[in-house]
This record gives sequence, structure tokens and C-alpha cells, in this order.
Amino acid sequence: MEKLKNVLVVGGGGRCHAIVHALSKSPQVGKIFCAPGNAGIGKLAECIPMKETDVEGLKEFALARKIDLTVVGPEIALEAGIVDAFRKAGLRIFGPVRGAARIETSKEFAKELMSRYGIPTASYRAFSDFDDALAWVRQGTLPVVLKYDGLAAGKGVVVAETLGEAETALRDMLLDDKFGKGKVVIEEFLTGPEFSFMCFVSGREVVPMVLAQDHKRAYDGDKGPNTGGMGAYTPLPFITPEDETYALREIMQKTADALVDEGVPFTGVLYGGLMKTPQGIKVIEFNARFGDPETEVVLPCLKSDIYEIFRAVADGQRPEKVEWDDRPVVGIVLAAKGYPGSYHKGIEILETAPVDGDVYHMGTSLTDGRLVSSGGRVLIVVCRADTLAAARGKALHEVEKIECGDALFYRKDIGAKAFLK
Ligand code: AMP
Ligand code: GLY
Repeated sequence: MEKLKNVLVVGGGGRCHAIVHALSKSPQVGKIFCAPGNAGIGKLAECIPMKETDVEGLKEFALARKIDLTVVGPEIALEAGIVDAFRKAGLRIFGPVRGAARIETSKEFAKELMSRYGIPTASYRAFSDFDDALAWVRQGTLPVVLKYDGLAAGKGVVVAETLGEAETALRDMLLDDKFGKGKVVIEEFLTGPEFSFMCFVSGREVVPMVLAQDHKRAYDGDKGPNTGGMGAYTPLPFITPEDETYALREIMQKTADALVDEGVPFTGVLYGGLMKTPQGIKVIEFNARFGDPETEVVLPCLKSDIYEIFRAVADGQRPEKVEWDDRPVVGIVLAAKGYPGSYHKGIEILETAPVDGDVYHMGTSLTDGRLVSSGGRVLIVVCRADTLAAARGKALHEVEKIECGDALFYRKDIGAKAFLK
């Protein structure tokens, strides 16, 4: 028998918990390390107190512990150049090099690429001068979408309904450098349901995952401020097989090919944040990594050995076996009251009865043996059933088993949109 492999996962949220969980089911995987991990991940992996962006430290760790494969969760590690550094050191790593991750880290790079290769997306212009940008907005239509050209922890997008809002946002981004020095991409406002299409990509090889839909707003009915995502589900009844074929061919494959042609072949997960508009499916954004919380509902559907998929992609091959269980899955996030604004940490969490499903930790830690929250989003409860309605019902039932003294909240309508469209 072949020796079991040591694997390192970089990251610490619910997405990484789902990745670690999937890896733990692989017959090829031995020890799993996770940097920095969290209390939930700690049950399946050894957590290493290292920052995701500590590229040198992580590289030394991987060399010293003879890590066979490293899997990168968050984009900040990609932007820090972790894949480039590991590859240079001869280490196998799943994720794109920095140049390819620009599809996420630079809005302008992504928009230019799409326009050059005829990939459907909202029309746009990029500006670095405040007055020029404002003049452009004044002569256009409202609402208008303003995007900071760089990583802004999900806060760099403003949909401005009025000129006043647009001006404030432009001032923040271009005059006050709220997210740092950078350009702004001004985009046409599109309408329609949004969905997330993640694919395993290795150069020109593109293998789709099941589709999922995120819920970005904090409260029921898509009300309240934007968050990192309050829940997700799969599959999506409003996306037809024809839509999926179109998105795979005209968006995901074309983008993978474009990155090869540009000399920055992509390896890892290419995430298309897509919208089904009345004019067809268009790209809202790309990410260069697994989505969060989509991963927490998508990976539980994977029937094949995820280690083998990661290994093949990292080695520049097409993963051979990627099979899915297409039964519906719904994931509901429990967040601290006040999130995404100010909120308490250290909330004690108990499971009053075993949850019939997966519980992935997003922001937790152990304090004197007690499980406590350490972030705004704390846990996600993920349930499967034979129908979407049943999976929703089950997730709503199971989430109540998490006892938190009323200090956490969750959306009661995750997956409800599937029945409207
Ligand atoms: P992004 O960070 O690019 O995903 O944008 C965050 C959110 O802003 C998206 O999930 C959309 O809901 C919204 N958004 C971004 N671009 C557009 C657009 N061109 N038209 C309408 N809504 C948009
Ligand atoms: N769910 C959106 C993201 O991962 O960026």
C-alpha cells in the first residue's frame, strides 16, 4: 500500500472546514494540518498557529513536515504569492499563481480580459481620476455600480441609486483611498438572479462543480447590509441545463483558455459569480478560489476522492473522476448579532443535541475547553434531503439545536428564492 499523504490546508473559516472534512474522507490522506484553522477544524486536523499570508513560514513548514499537497483557501494568501513560492520550492500546491489570481484581485484585469475575449459581462470603464469618474457617472444612468480595483474584503462594491451616493463612494475610493491607492471600475447595473459556478481548472481543462447560490444580505428578504454570505444551497431550479452548458462553454472555458493565451494558466478553483439577466448569463465577478459559504454546501455533494482531484489539478492534469450527488443541500449561517457591523466575540456555543447534518465552523475558538465565537460568522449548519423544500425544513430544524443564549442570528429564508424564480 502507498504511504498516506500529509496535507496542509491554508485558511481558517467554514470553507476550509469543508475542505478539511472532504480531505479527511480520502483514503489517500494521512495527517491534515491547517493554518491557522479553528476549533471545528481542530477535530479533524492539527491547527498550526500561522497566518495565511506568512508565505515563507508556511513554505518552511511544508518542507519540514514533508507535505505532499497544500490547498489554499483565501485570496489573501494567493495575492501574497503563496503558490508562486511553493512551486519554486518544488512543493505541490492547489491554487493559482499570483498572475492568474488577478482575475479576482484586479477588477480591471478581469474586465479587460473579458472584453478582449468576448466573455459576456456588464459594460464598464476604469478611472483613476475622481473628476473624470464623476463626470462619467453624471452623464450615465442610475443605478450605477462602482467597484474598487483591488481586494477590499468584499466591501469594495457600491450600487449607487443616486448621484450623491455615487459621489460619496468615488470620493472614498479615489480621493480618500479608503481601500488603498487604486482605480475604480464603473459598471452598467444588471438585473436577474445571481449564482455561483465553481470549476476545477487546470490550464484549459475545466471541470464543473454543482451550482450554488449565496445570500449576501444580512436579513431575510435580502434586506440589510452586505455580508460575507449568510447561507447557500444547491441545486438551482431556475438555472436550466442549457444555461449551465452555455455558462460552462462561453464563460468558464473561455476564461480558462484566455488565461492560458495570456501566459498565466490558471490552476485551482475558478469561481464565476454569474447573473441570469434578461439578455443572457453574464459575469458579475470572478474569484480565484472556493466561494464561502458555497463550498460548505457544494463539497458535501462530492462523491469522488478530493485529494485525487486536487493532486491532478496541481500537477496540471484533468481530474479524472469528479462525481456528484445531486440531492439538494441547504446551509444556514449563524452569525453574531450586530454582524456585519460591530458584534461580540466570545459567545459560548453548545450543541444541545447532535445535528443531523454537517456543522462547519466559520469563526470559533476554544477558551478553557469551552467553544466560543471568534468572528462575525460563527457556524454553518448544512443539511441534505431528497427535495430542496425538505432540505430547507431540515436545516431550519437542525440550526435550532445550536444553543447560543440568543446571541446569534440566522436567516430563515435561505433557499426560498429557488421557489420564486
Ligand atoms: P462583487 O463583489 O463584484 O460580487 O459585487 C458584490 C455584489 O454587488 C454582487 O453580488 C451583486 O449583487 C452586486 N453587483 C456587482 N456588480 C453588479 C452589476 N454590474 N449589476 C448589478 N449588481 C451588481
Ligand atoms: N460567496 C462569495 C465569495 O466567496 O466571494
